[in-house]
Amino acid sequence: MKNMVILTGAGISAESGINTFRDSDGLWEGHDIMEVASPVGWKKNPSLVLDFYNKRRQQLYTVKPNLAHYELVKLESKYNVSIITQNVDNLHERAGSKNIIHLHGELLKVRSQFDQNIVLDWQKDLHIGDVCKHNSQLRPHIVWFGEEVPMLDLAIEVTQKADILIIIGTSMQVYPAASLVQYITPKTPIYFIDPNPNISPSKQLTIIKEKASLGMSQLVEQFLTS
Ligand code: OAD
Repeated sequence: MKNMVILTGAGISAESGINTFRDSDGLWEGHDIMEVASPVGWKKNPSLVLDFYNKRRQQLYTVKPNLAHYELVKLESKYNVSIITQNVDNLHERAGSKNIIHLHGELLKVRSQFDQNIVLDWQKDLHIGDVCKHNSQLRPHIVWFGEEVPMLDLAIEVTQKADILIIIGTSMQVYPAASLVQYITPKTPIYFIDPNPNISPSKQLTIIKEKASLGMSQLVEQFLTS
């Protein structure tokens, strides 16, 4: 089976009703990024940060995977599919995809401030005073700006083995996620699905200027019938 690597960003969840970060109705609107997604912001106003992620977590219970998430699952019948997502939602899991690497963390997990290896499943709101077994405050299991990306090495390893790379709904502005493309071989074809692609086509790169659901339906038909 060929290895198919899928890199997803906020755009794949847009049709599920989750706002992207950098479109005009972006999630950051009304929020200074550094206040809600950085260690400095967390130190300055932890309640604001918890409230921000509690709202994001609550929203997960009101949204569903969309066609693009489900189309990706179909590819597993013919390819060894690995998804590397920048998204902290659980829509790939809920659609049924098997191999998912969350590069930027997960909304439904929290971790200890004392020991980052203490990671707990967490479905409800997180409050000041919710602590780990060492009595240390729990924080969202999200990779904030300026923090290490613990899943990066695994993501690089997976990307290096890609026979085909599909990128869906990302502005390719956030590193190191955007740098993963550098790890594919020169022969690996790249397909980029985004209605407003922030990248230029090349011999190696095919751009599909569509929303994720339509773009994925087209690609899946192509890949499953070829
Ligand atoms: P962005 O908001 O930067 O980019 C979203 C992309 O999705 C844009 O290129 C849009 O054109 C595209 N888009 C919008 N609607 C779409 C649709 N229906 N179908 C397909 N594409 C669509 O989001 P990301 O690139 O994911 O990090 O942002 C990367 C990281 O920046 C996030 O993971 C987050 C943020 O800071 C953390 O939270 C750590």
